[in-house]
Amino acid sequence: MADTSDVPQNKGKIITVDGNNVAVFNDKGTFKAFSTSCTHLGCDIEWNDTENTWDCPCHGSKFNPDGSVKNGPAQRALDPIAIKIENNQITLNL
Ligand code: FES
Repeated sequence: MADTSDVPQNKGKIITVDGNNVAVFNDKGTFKAFSTSCTHLGCDIEWNDTENTWDCPCHGSKFNPDGSVKNGPAQRALDPIAIKIENNQITLNL
């Protein structure tokens, strides 16, 4: 079960939501979720806690916390994933 307290304020984290790895950013209590697949060639992104970016280990793309591209080679923002929060539990909004 994914809990909102799993993702610290103003930080991102890869968490498991309903059995899926999801990249979640806690924007001052508003949670934004993205696919962990880099939009370049699909490697799994990681949260960079020093630079506050989502980084791809394969070819160096960097994404801002809101999923937009900071550095290529990726050209496209991370794909958003719809989530909902009830009683501090994060679930997919299917
Ligand atoms: S797959 Fe992410 S930078 Fe290439």
